Amino acid sequence: MNSITIQPAVSVNGEIVVPGDKSISHRSIMLGAIANGVTTVRGFLRGEDNMSTMHAFRAMGVEIHDDGETISISGRGLRGLQEPADVLDCGNSGTTIRLITGLLSGQSFFSVVTGDQYLRKRPMKRIVEPLSLMGACINGRNGGTLAPLAIRGGSLHGISYQSPVSSAQIKSSLMLAGLYADGETSITEPSLSRDHSERMFRLFGASLNLHDKGVTVRGGVELTAQEVTVPGDISSAAFFMVAALITPHSELLIRNVGVNPSRTGVIDILQAMGGNIQLVDEREVSGEPVADILVCTSRLKGIAISGSVVPRAIDEFPAVCIAAARAEGITTIRDARELRVKETDRIIAMAENLGRLGITVTETEDGMDITGSEQLNGGTVDSRGDHRIAMSLSVAALVASRGITVTDIDCVATSFPSFYPLLEKVASR
Ligand code: S3P
Repeated sequence: MNSITIQPAVSVNGEIVVPGDKSISHRSIMLGAIANGVTTVRGFLRGEDNMSTMHAFRAMGVEIHDDGETISISGRGLRGLQEPADVLDCGNSGTTIRLITGLLSGQSFFSVVTGDQYLRKRPMKRIVEPLSLMGACINGRNGGTLAPLAIRGGSLHGISYQSPVSSAQIKSSLMLAGLYADGETSITEPSLSRDHSERMFRLFGASLNLHDKGVTVRGGVELTAQEVTVPGDISSAAFFMVAALITPHSELLIRNVGVNPSRTGVIDILQAMGGNIQLVDEREVSGEPVADILVCTSRLKGIAISGSVVPRAIDEFPAVCIAAARAEGITTIRDARELRVKETDRIIAMAENLGRLGITVTETEDGMDITGSEQLNGGTVDSRGDHRIAMSLSVAALVASRGITVTDIDCVATSFPSFYPLLEKVASR
């Protein structure tokens, strides 16, 4: 278990490119695998989570070639996947296990999915329940609510499902099952979660209808291979946005970032806090909005965060917490109960670690109150095996009174293997 000590910086400057979007990378493999023809993917994120997805599809007979630049997936058509000879290990990846379980529910073979010690604690009832309503037979630990999950797929029928939580993983799991179901599968959610599946289903030729807070997929429609270009991940860019905002004398240009409106909650939040963030050269690539993002040092103030912006920034709260720790006044976060079931309980993780650095944080059931301060102490903090906790605390170190040691940082490789070299590249000391 490795740790790292990050020293304070005088500024964060330059131009960077962050690696490809994790959500889009997962989906490109999944849809490419069940499409007809060869799908090519450029800008694919080679993080551990996406490699879990790639290995799972290879284990189902899909030929996937990586020449170092482009990933080529030889699609097997809607009904061409093979029964895997062994358990499919999804590692730390919630997206892999939840989406793949939807897909496997539609296959006429038996499969078992599992993951690491963190993933095996995360709730699966949220997908098992609706997939069972569609006709899938899924068993698992703790009454079918925890992985490993054993799936006997088969003939599914479409349902109309009102998800109690805004979750792209639930939505996408049911959309993938819906490709195999008789009739139509409709999913609605309290407020819109990331819509990468909707966009990519369209790109690959699925029959899809978008409606208010929901989507309907028609089953039995074959998909066609595509050329996909994956933009940079705004979730990765968020750490660098916060780094440039809080560190004095900073100006950072982050090139080629996905700015899909269902993901830009972090920009809205940081701008509302007073952050100087500009989108430059907005364009569209493979059905996804993309821009360069220019960020300069800013005086931040505490704000109230709740409602529909929360699912639009769900992965960025660890980074937002660091901005809040440096803002003037109190930042309140509410309606963010989902943070408790991420790679770790991110409310506890941020409250405890910021507390160690001398920041006052009060936990609530669905969020927290953070009292900003000009004084951030150094010390030792613990990632709890969660990549985003590790990266956000590393960014905090740039403005701490002395170095911060972050323990258990191997998890950073799940989403952003080049994070530390990139941070060192832009931070001046
Ligand atoms: C993701 C959806 C989100 C997000 C996760 C990636 C996806 O999870 O937290 O990192 O790719 O669909 P939920 O759908 O559980 O909110």
